[in-house]
Amino acid sequence: MNETRKQIIAGNWKMNLTAEEAVAHLTRLDLALGKTEAVEVLVAPSFVALTEAHKALRWSRIRLLGQNMSEHAAGAYTGEVSGEMLLTSGCVGAILGHSERRQLFGEDNELIGRKVVRAFSNGLFPVICVGETESERDAADTERILAAQLSGAFPTVVEEFIVKKRADFAVAYEPVWAIGTGKVATPEMAETAHRFVRGWLTKRFSETVSLSTRILYGGSVKPDNAAGLLTQANIDGALVGGASLVSEDFFKIIQAAPGFPIEQRAAAPSDPVD
Ligand code: PGA
Repeated sequence: MNETRKQIIAGNWKMNLTAEEAVAHLTRLDLALGKTEAVEVLVAPSFVALTEAHKALRWSRIRLLGQNMSEHAAGAYTGEVSGEMLLTSGCVGAILGHSERRQLFGEDNELIGRKVVRAFSNGLFPVICVGETESERDAADTERILAAQLSGAFPTVVEEFIVKKRADFAVAYEPVWAIGTGKVATPEMAETAHRFVRGWLTKRFSETVSLSTRILYGGSVKPDNAAGLLTQANIDGALVGGASLVSEDFFKIIQAAPGFPIEQRAAAPSDPVD
């Protein structure tokens, strides 16, 4: 954690929770969270739950992300969702380049770069995911893979937004071998990768950009390992999958962020037992 970068705890719900379930989950979470501004809380419901979630969060500090977004502005792209659609459904940003999109839906570095540019032009906050597979880590190839993914995600045109307009974005370091597997990177392993990403951003843009960019860790973050990760110098938050679906667990992860007010640590919401 770093005092000048407000931590982000983001929940990626993937293909889970109907609109009705999303509203119930968010209502519990919002009640527990209260008005604290110390940590930024973001959630990414399914596209079809966004409008209802947005209505439920009208008075809340919790903000919405899309889980993905088209590289195109509009047109004949069956099944796609545009940045403008996300914005008008209440999203402030979008998760781009998640490893499931890369591995299961064939998204490559260049496509992700075009999506990042589109997100910036729509005024959305991109959360750009990068991370190595287990075999890449075993082959000591992690940094080369991260550098290639980052180069693809930041084509030359992004300078217009990042350098000239100071548009904000986040990078999520999510080692593929840790996603949904229960195998979490140790705080030291994660910190080393985060330092590499920050150094890359310094070389690519500037120290000002790199020092103000939030770099999140993702991959089996749970209430019992969150504090160890979130207290590392270059870890500015978490992107949480499975544990973000359980109000109590997600709230405990938010509470583990070093900036979270101590007086609010007791009140964890509990999920209804059906
Ligand atoms: P997980 O997912 O927390 O279930 O490992 C993280 C992610 O996919 O962003």
